[in-house]
Amino acid sequence: MGWYANNILPKLIEAGCSQPLLMKLRAQYVPQANGRVLEIGIGTGLNLSYYDKDNVELTGLDPAAELTGHAQQRAQELQLSIDMLGVSGESIPAEDKAFDALVCTWTLCSIPNVTKALEEMYRVVKPGGKLFFIEHGASPDTNIARWQQRVEPLWKRIAGGCHLTRAADELIADAGFHIAEMKSEYLPGPRIATFMTHGVAVRASTTL
Ligand SMILES: C[S@@+](CC[C@H](N)C(=O)[O-])C[C@H]1O[C@@H](n2cnc3c(N)ncnc32)[C@H](O)[C@@H]1O
Repeated sequence: MGWYANNILPKLIEAGCSQPLLMKLRAQYVPQANGRVLEIGIGTGLNLSYYDKDNVELTGLDPAAELTGHAQQRAQELQLSIDMLGVSGESIPAEDKAFDALVCTWTLCSIPNVTKALEEMYRVVKPGGKLFFIEHGASPDTNIARWQQRVEPLWKRIAGGCHLTRAADELIADAGFHIAEMKSEYLPGPRIATFMTHGVAVRASTTL
């Protein structure tokens, strides 16, 4: 996968993830992430132009150097300062409660141990801090869900480990976040890959 991952995958991700309706969703959520913000799976940096530059201190995290190079370049063009961590979200090199907010867009599908990554995300966000998420995932329609299961093994191979059958909202809630706002909808395109779930989840402000 080396040559494919370095040369083809970045172009596929950039093209697939920059569709106008997806950019519209980014524009809806990303400007709300203020203060010390950690973006998990920053990829080629397609969210960067939506941050409120004057109110954000951004850290990007992604283990894929072939993608983060593009993000670094984008940040430079936007004159947005960014601290980049080239590691997995499964083990975030940050203190507990270090961030005011988290951003995660079309990434929970690709992290191998997503449960561990969400535990880490919960750990590093402050109590009361928000997770802004936009994900695709498991369809509620039996027939489409069946196709997602069938296609997933091949899909994962060509799409950088992306799963089709994960339910982002359930995973986020299982990690302890309270889902404060959420919408699920099909966007245009092949239904196995276009069932979107997006919203805002919050880490409880007090620990019992
Ligand atoms: C479909 S791309 C989305 C990229 C970007 N979030 C966006 O919205 O355009 C999935 C991203 O998940 C990242 N990813 C894969 N495994 C990861 C991990 N263990 N920890 C963090 N990010 C990971 C990939 O490198 C890639 O950037």
